[in-house]
Amino acid sequence: MYPIIRNRRLRTSDAIRRLVRETIITPDDFLVPLFVVEGKGIKEEIPSMPNYYRMSLDHLENEVKELWKMGLCGVLLFVKVPEKLKDNEGKEALNPKGLMQKAIKTVKQACPNMLVMTDVALDPYSSYGHDGIVSNGKILNDETAEVLGEMSVSHAEAGADFVAPSDMMDGRILTIREALDDEGFVDTGIMSYSAKYASAFYGPFRDALDSAPVHLENVPKDKKTYQMDPANRFEALKEAEMDIDEGADIVMVKPGLAYLDIVREIKNEVEVPVAVYQVSGEYAMLKAAAEKGWLDHDTVMMEQLLSIKRAGANLIATYFAKDAVRVMNS
Ligand code: PBG
Repeated sequence: MYPIIRNRRLRTSDAIRRLVRETIITPDDFLVPLFVVEGKGIKEEIPSMPNYYRMSLDHLENEVKELWKMGLCGVLLFVKVPEKLKDNEGKEALNPKGLMQKAIKTVKQACPNMLVMTDVALDPYSSYGHDGIVSNGKILNDETAEVLGEMSVSHAEAGADFVAPSDMMDGRILTIREALDDEGFVDTGIMSYSAKYASAFYGPFRDALDSAPVHLENVPKDKKTYQMDPANRFEALKEAEMDIDEGADIVMVKPGLAYLDIVREIKNEVEVPVAVYQVSGEYAMLKAAAEKGWLDHDTVMMEQLLSIKRAGANLIATYFAKDAVRVMNS
């Protein structure tokens, strides 16, 4: 009790603050999302994501080498698929010579020890911009899960270490696990987007991949029938627990900052690593505020990453990974 106890003693110098610090972030915490496009010599900035790029395979190769040198050890791959290759079933997703499959090989050749995770969902391949097959105004669950299983096998064949299903179909983790095991990929891991909310924070990402739901009659205009209602907490636990039962090695909460209560809730209940995706809208907000001179970019960025880890994240998918490592090294 005060005055015997004075909490400020533990804050009097940098040295004591370092000694008693509970949470420390390192490059080992980060998974780097990368956007890949067809073509050669392409590195185009995403307008709503300043200093973040879509890259062709040649640039991807240089990028992962640079990431590895900086001490970053994991990437999460996304592809932007040309309009003419999109359809309702996402057939291009299974093409062994498709962009994702080539991207996986490119990364593994450039950097064999880099952990490669791949996004598994139909939206970049879907002519309707949905994560699943659309039929009569609905997103089909079990039919979609089957395709996701085949897609996961295709990624594993190309060399992916982990698949990361981001679609929110029920039962897809089990379908994917069984599909991988049937083909002998027993060591290929699954990081499940377990508590993925129907969030408006994904806007810039959908710009990056041109993957937003299209405006057509009989096509749902949003993803609310599969992604979670931001109002719900217990449902997130149920999602995470079911995914773990179905074979998820890592469970994820997404978005990050606005959902840290969910991160802590899940962290307290489960015994697998918990990942957080600090999403495109979170990145865009800070870049915009910093550009206006309203927030100090580096300090706010580090505070946010630290907060995500303190909330219980074991790994963080973040567009700030390189920026953060630069700050750590300076
Ligand atoms: C697609 C997918 C999305 C994100 C990751 N995978 C978008 C969506 O669900 O619409 C969002 C990532 C971000 O905003 O940074 N299944």
